[in-house]
Amino acid sequence: MSEPHAPDRYAVIGHPIAHSKSPLIHGLFAQATGQVMEYTAIEAPLDGFSTVVQAFRAQGGRGLNVTLPFKLQAFELATDPLESARLAGAVNALKFEGDRIYADNFDGLGLVNDIQRNLGVSLAGKRVLLCGAGGATRGAIVPIALQKPALLAVANRSADKAHQLKRDFAAHVALQTGGFEDLAGESFDVVLNATSTGLTQAALPLPAGVFATGALAYELVYGKGLTPFLKQAQAAGATHIADGVGMLVEQAAEAFAWWRGVRPDTRPVIDRLTVPLV
Ligand code: ATR
Repeated sequence: MSEPHAPDRYAVIGHPIAHSKSPLIHGLFAQATGQVMEYTAIEAPLDGFSTVVQAFRAQGGRGLNVTLPFKLQAFELATDPLESARLAGAVNALKFEGDRIYADNFDGLGLVNDIQRNLGVSLAGKRVLLCGAGGATRGAIVPIALQKPALLAVANRSADKAHQLKRDFAAHVALQTGGFEDLAGESFDVVLNATSTGLTQAALPLPAGVFATGALAYELVYGKGLTPFLKQAQAAGATHIADGVGMLVEQAAEAFAWWRGVRPDTRPVIDRLTVPLV
């Protein structure tokens, strides 16, 4: 009788890592799709990322999700980083095959899939505003631009950082960039908060008119309830508000499909993780 073969190993790596929902999400995906795999959480020392990754690989590890603060180091470790990961300046998934380390960033695609498939809002022809000019915005620009919005604008507290993105992404999209004060008199169909204010509970200086009638207001952070941004959106009449739970699950589904060749159903997992927006 042949031995049942050991489960393929995956993990999420970060510091800290205890809060990560990835083991739960991938465990549910594996169960639902009948994949024989294990998915754990690894806390790497701040100065030990590549050592821990190489040890995981040497022990037969097949893939990793990467979270803060290692997303840039993961990019540097890759033998075959994709263009999307290069532009995002960060990697959130690694795949090990022989001596190759493939790297990608599924955050932006997860965001777009959540908006279009789960929330039912097509980005084509829409006026879209990304608030913030950090890593979350970098990852979102190309996947959003590929949907052909009428306008993609980036507003940031320090306008210079937004203008830098305009230059970095010039080959892919003509971004409109500036500070929040430059948004006066403009309105958008989709307004995304990709700043870290979802975590710190600070408000953004957004002119009220920024939210068009019936606009979607989307907080990329997950599980923080009604953040100041979402409250602002409600007060300004936005009827459609969402946080990043769907983005979180959709980016996980992209990584899962990349590793396993099987696409899991995201709806039951999103429902399980949703924290009410109150
Ligand atoms: P991330 O990788 O999560 O995007 P980041 O790269 O540190 O994190 O970027 C944080 C973003 O949140 C930046 O756009 C930052 O604005 P600045 O570039 O002006 O610093 C934005 N941010 C953080 N706190 C903010 C606040 N209180 N008001 C407005 N924007 C804020």
